[in-house]
Amino acid sequence: MTAITPAADDDRFSFTPFTRHPFFGYVNRWILERVICPGREVIVDLGCGPGAITELILERVRDQQPPPHVIGVDPSPSALAKARAAISSKFAEFVQGSAEWLSKLVKSADAVVFLNAIHLMPDKEQVLKEIRRVLKPGGLLAFNSTFFNGAYVEGTSGFWRRWIVRSVQTLREKGIEVKHSGHAAAMEWFSADQYKAACTAARLRPTTVELLRVDMTRQALIDIGRFSLFIEGALPGVPLEEGAQALEVGLERTMEELKVESVPRHWLEVVAEAV
Ligand SMILES: C[S@@+](CC[C@H](N)C(=O)[O-])C[C@H]1O[C@@H](n2cnc3c(N)ncnc32)[C@H](O)[C@@H]1O
Repeated sequence: MTAITPAADDDRFSFTPFTRHPFFGYVNRWILERVICPGREVIVDLGCGPGAITELILERVRDQQPPPHVIGVDPSPSALAKARAAISSKFAEFVQGSAEWLSKLVKSADAVVFLNAIHLMPDKEQVLKEIRRVLKPGGLLAFNSTFFNGAYVEGTSGFWRRWIVRSVQTLREKGIEVKHSGHAAAMEWFSADQYKAACTAARLRPTTVELLRVDMTRQALIDIGRFSLFIEGALPGVPLEEGAQALEVGLERTMEELKVESVPRHWLEVVAEAV
């Protein structure tokens, strides 16, 4: 079971500010356009968080008759509370639970979208098999992530490394040590080929595997650096407040040293069909 610590569930460390950047709409609409179409009656928004993707799905099916039923699933009670407060559609419902046991929560679906969350799964193969259990034959799974081997655009890996080094330095200056052992699930990155193989093993045939390139601005990097799961992945064991501050200072130093105002990055986009 995924443990949601009270600190990680804190409002101040929400994913929402990051979702307001234009590139976030781009990478998610791009993939939703490939899976959300008339005829899909039940759509699962897995790892829905505070509901940014659910809103994009509802926007896309606005004129669809009959409208599909959209089920948002997430283990985080505070994220679900935000999603329920933000989305009042009678065609959407939100359920607390985890991808690892999706088939206990949803009987059957025409499409499962799992956006910006699959990298968090410690056992990605098991989760893909679990998703396959709820998909009807011919149903589609869509997932995307910018935390995978291949996310760094050529020539930029030094930026990301330096950001962590500078953040760790600012913590040391305050007497806070970063654990090197507690390897966070968010850091166990698959490559596109590993995702393809894991889909195939789960009887999900990949039909689209693409990289989209986006420019991450200073503000987008500040916002992701304040997101609980990012902090936990980047600086394991560090309290969120101190981690968020260190990532902001580390970012400032890195951008100043490298004289950059934004950094390009890849998003991996995968669609796979249940066979
Ligand atoms: C980065 S957020 C993405 C939220 C949303 N999909 C989006 O793109 O805006 C990752 C979400 O995955 C959720 N999550 C973490 N572990 C999960 C699990 N085992 N099953 C389902 N969702 C999970 C987190 O609670 C969080 O809301």
